[in-house]
Amino acid sequence: MSFSIYLYSVLSFSGLVILLAAGLMIAERFLINYGICKLDINAGEKPLELEGGQTLLSSLYANEIFIPSACGGKGSCGHCKITVTSGGGPLLPTETPYLTRKEIRSGARLACQVKIREDIYVRIPEDFLNVKLFNATVESTRRLTYDIKEIRLKLDDSQEISQRPGQYVQVQAPSPDGPVFRAYSISSPTYEPTVVELVVRLVPGGIGSTYLHNLNADDKVAFTGPYGDFYLNEDPSVEIICVGGGCGMAPMKNIIYSLYDRWPNRSCWLFFGCRTTEDIFYLERFKDLERKHPNFHVIYALSDELKPEEKWDGETGFIHLAVDKHLEHGIPRQAFLCGPPLMIEAVTRVLEEKGLRPDDIFYDEF
Ligand SMILES: Cc1cc2nc3c(=O)[nH]c(=O)nc-3n(C[C@H](O)[C@H](O)[C@H](O)COP(=O)(O)OP(=O)(O)OC[C@H]3O[C@@H](n4cnc5c(N)ncnc54)[C@H](O)[C@@H]3O)c2cc1C
Ligand code: FES
Repeated sequence: MSFSIYLYSVLSFSGLVILLAAGLMIAERFLINYGICKLDINAGEKPLELEGGQTLLSSLYANEIFIPSACGGKGSCGHCKITVTSGGGPLLPTETPYLTRKEIRSGARLACQVKIREDIYVRIPEDFLNVKLFNATVESTRRLTYDIKEIRLKLDDSQEISQRPGQYVQVQAPSPDGPVFRAYSISSPTYEPTVVELVVRLVPGGIGSTYLHNLNADDKVAFTGPYGDFYLNEDPSVEIICVGGGCGMAPMKNIIYSLYDRWPNRSCWLFFGCRTTEDIFYLERFKDLERKHPNFHVIYALSDELKPEEKWDGETGFIHLAVDKHLEHGIPRQAFLCGPPLMIEAVTRVLEEKGLRPDDIFYDEF
């Protein structure tokens, strides 16, 4: 008896809290009018006036300021960090997991979580202010493995994209709840400014990857970019290490081709982790590049046990073991890693043991 009274009280209380929260949301949406608020960017560099009540991320987007937002504003990627110097309201519990104590002290906020309710003052890095919206036409699509496709997009209206090797774009994909954005690394090199090539793995039921996999030649695509903080060391004596797995190949291909266009003798290693021979792609083209550039080394490794019918005379085991085996200790290096978090963690550990400083290791987890 006492348990059913307890259960009834808990359910009634929870119901009341949910009702109140829903009421507040409806009131905020339809009844509260914040009027026109001032949005000051970089101390007067770009002053804007806009209707209050929207998130900072969507207000900036409406004014063609494109902040990285790989999760599409759901508060689950932490990419949309910018500094709010005044007017952002209190820090929300949804933001704290993505901000270090130092960032919180300096005013960093997640733009997708901050609502504009009063005049607001923000600082936005110059790189973000240079991000543009591009329209493009699908030039070609090509299947690379059973779940990975290469998609080449030709920019419309003689537009050009100025990217650093390893950067990414955010593709706009249609969904029943309106357009969503997903991040995809640019796999085409910097010397092809009128093209953006992507290497996309199909995530079953995924909105962005299904949309991209279903594209055909001549279809239209919109995306913003470029984003990302990969910086290639300009000193040609610094060796470049690229480590990827699956669709983490995209930025590696961009970095390697851009590198050899500029420094034909530069030393560079590509380590690429696959599970089985069915996951291998681009190996032949990298072997060709190895023949042209003697300081380029390509190592693919298979992590699953070989089936009797599989032919493979390359490395086996996880890719961090191949990195450990082939790299000597103590050479000046910079590394770029792309792939699943566990791979990034294991490779970072090996590279640090080889003498790389954390500042010389760039990574994108996906
Ligand atoms: C900086 C950056 C660069 C990226 N570059 C590339 C790239 O070059 N190529 C590429 O293919 N992807 C890349 N991604 C990943 C890409 O942005 C999407 O997250 C991915 O395509 C899934 O999006 P979706 O819309 O298809 O799936 P969603 O609709 O977002 O998700 C559908 C379901 O799948 C789950 N899910 C989401 N992602 C994965 C995953 N990776 N594996 C398994 N389940 C998942 C979700 O939890 C959800 O349940 C990159 C991500 C980042 C952050
Ligand atoms: S857009 Fe992903 S956390 Fe804000």
